[in-house]
Amino acid sequence: MSSMRVRLTRRWPEVVEDRLRGLCDLAINADDRPLTRDQLIAALQENDVLGATVTDRLDTAVLSAPNRRCRLIASFGVGYNHIDTEAARAAGIAVTNTPGVLTDATADIAITLMLMAARRAGEGERLLRAGQWPGWSPNSLLGTQVTGKTLGIIGMGRIGQATARRAAFGFGMKIFYFSRTRLDLLEESVLGATHVKDLKAMLGHCDFVSMHCPASPATRHLLNAETLAALPPHAFVINTARGDVIDEAALAEALASGRIAGAGLDVYEREPIVHEALLPMENVVLLPHLGSGSQETREAMGHCAVDNIEAFIKGTVLPNRVV
Ligand code: DGY
Repeated sequence: MSSMRVRLTRRWPEVVEDRLRGLCDLAINADDRPLTRDQLIAALQENDVLGATVTDRLDTAVLSAPNRRCRLIASFGVGYNHIDTEAARAAGIAVTNTPGVLTDATADIAITLMLMAARRAGEGERLLRAGQWPGWSPNSLLGTQVTGKTLGIIGMGRIGQATARRAAFGFGMKIFYFSRTRLDLLEESVLGATHVKDLKAMLGHCDFVSMHCPASPATRHLLNAETLAALPPHAFVINTARGDVIDEAALAEALASGRIAGAGLDVYEREPIVHEALLPMENVVLLPHLGSGSQETREAMGHCAVDNIEAFIKGTVLPNRVV
């Protein structure tokens, strides 16, 4: 066992913490509450490795605090917009993430949101649990059919592709996509997917649009008042990426005014706070950042983070280095 000091900012799956305990001098966050800024700074000063998550805001001020000991931030998750990567680079701290292992779980939640929003599943369940379901009738709680509709995917990375496969093969959906990454022609033809360069033109054709792009200054508020206005009024917006890629206030306004039909959200701009106008809306499905939330996936994410920590301890190449 190495004397390397590793500090986890949140509890990780037990099997993963046990593996880490055998590798290093491990400090866990027993009560699992997000660390304060001062606690994050202290953790960077007292440990060689910080095992971080999306709930840690590792900005310039935190990363440039004096007397740092930390040389690796192993983030538990694929998205790493909670870490200022330029500040980490300047501070000489390597950053790793956990790509690949949460692709299917997240695509499953995108499809869950699509079906729930279109088929009014949340609304129906709330009605039933409130004891207000009068029983079946031909015209009650009619939703929108998903099968055969058009899906616009924004960001065709691993998760975008997995969502497109489910939509195309499971629901016969027609796929358009707006993305830096262009699929090869064979993949495009297997999926029946069309690459588009003009976001607003694509949105005009969408019955559903699903966000799968990473959060960055370039994708911040990609869906905003202007781009949302390009969607047809029967369209649904789905987001399993990051809250920042949608202007939440503009989305709430588009939903309230009936400019779009509904939304299914798993991520928010100011988690765990959700824009208050969205909370009472019956046509919006709100999930608490569940994208990667299966036992199998969270364990796989933890093992992926530990693979990076183990490589750091051994001084070998970090398998998932982003900085
Ligand atoms: C991810 O991996 O990006 C998940 O959203 C959790 O952070």
